[in-house]
Amino acid sequence: MLVQGRLLIDPHKPPVPGWVRVEGGRIAEVGEGDSPALPAAGGSEAIITPGFIDAHLHLPQIDAIGCDGLELLEWLERVIFPAELKWGNAGFAQQQIDEAHQRLLRAGTLGYAGYLTSHGHGIGGWIDSLRRFPLRATAGQVLMDRAGPPALTNQVIEPLRGVPGDRASMSVNPRFAVSCSGDLLKTVAPMSAGLFMIQTHLAESKRECEVVLELFKECESYTDVYERFGMLTQRTLLAHAVHLSEAEWRLIAERDSVVVHCPGANTFLEAGAFDLHAAREHGVRLALGSDVAAGPDLAMPRVARSMIEVAKLRRILTGQSTPVPSPAEAWKMITRGNAEALGWQDAGLIEPGARADLLVLQPPFEIDEHLIGRLIYTWRDAMIAARIVDGRLIDVPAVENDSPVTAGRFPGAAGNGVD
Ligand code: GUN
Ligand code: FE
Repeated sequence: MLVQGRLLIDPHKPPVPGWVRVEGGRIAEVGEGDSPALPAAGGSEAIITPGFIDAHLHLPQIDAIGCDGLELLEWLERVIFPAELKWGNAGFAQQQIDEAHQRLLRAGTLGYAGYLTSHGHGIGGWIDSLRRFPLRATAGQVLMDRAGPPALTNQVIEPLRGVPGDRASMSVNPRFAVSCSGDLLKTVAPMSAGLFMIQTHLAESKRECEVVLELFKECESYTDVYERFGMLTQRTLLAHAVHLSEAEWRLIAERDSVVVHCPGANTFLEAGAFDLHAAREHGVRLALGSDVAAGPDLAMPRVARSMIEVAKLRRILTGQSTPVPSPAEAWKMITRGNAEALGWQDAGLIEPGARADLLVLQPPFEIDEHLIGRLIYTWRDAMIAARIVDGRLIDVPAVENDSPVTAGRFPGAAGNGVD
């Protein structure tokens, strides 16, 4: 399959007119100039970009966006746990996973790291859904044994297993130190065995930090809790990290764990303004996440915009000359940057050998030196003219559709994608 368009290989450089040849799920060839044959997608005015990658989201929370006015712990209790309890019905869970996958594809997110609920059967439903919607993904059963309703905390922990195909893997997802006893946290490192990713939340709200220090009195800091349980690995994703001391930043940098910045969520729950400067100064690996449903936007360009805006506000309010990411830097984060943070070496790239997870954009404006800024600040899913997932052109309805999605509406999965 040939795709024609200006190649956004490096968002810091102007996109060059060219084409991409896709074969067997990977990019086979990349060329500049006119397409050597009739393209299956794109055109001379189109832009080709790697698909977006979301480094932190909660699949069971896709219908819980916008429940405003609560502090994190109260929001979890009043909004999120009721939403996650609905997965007690396996059929509902399946339908919501399918819906989440379809909405992600619509938004151009072709890969993600996420959370299910603490129900064991969610895993089977998730694996099943990935057969219909072959996104690249890592996700796991939420581990929690306290500070929640019994139907979520009395869980049976499912063993980790391989996911068919090579596009998805399970992760170990202890919710956060508030809802995990020491006994539960002890199981995390052996389960991950340095192979499976660990995903958790760290220092999101001040109240949460106080509760954690009360619960783990012997620990020096919130980060030290995870350190003592051997959870700070190179494959650990720590979401939020808003309230950290110098020593905690240093420890995270030393362990080479990834901090996932979730700017939309931090603003929505008034958790705080992330210190991008500290993260950079300490050389901490950084990723960007929507954190739906605390974050209101599934679309990663909007999350990128939120990151830029939070950084600008921080600069305005502190009067310090702290760095504000440029649109090009932000675009890189939601594509190649997040791929690197998740350890997906062949993702987020337009080069031979890379996975063919691409978007063809048709922006409604002329292409000039402000291309990426215009995309980020005026983003609408309708700018996506085509989605290439695992090398296949897929078709998802362009308009947000609130009705539940029926299984099998994914044309690529039915074998009628264009190759
Ligand atoms: N901390 C623990 N669980 C959650 C969650 O589901 N969302 C957010 N934003 N923070 C959390
Ligand atoms: Fe989260």
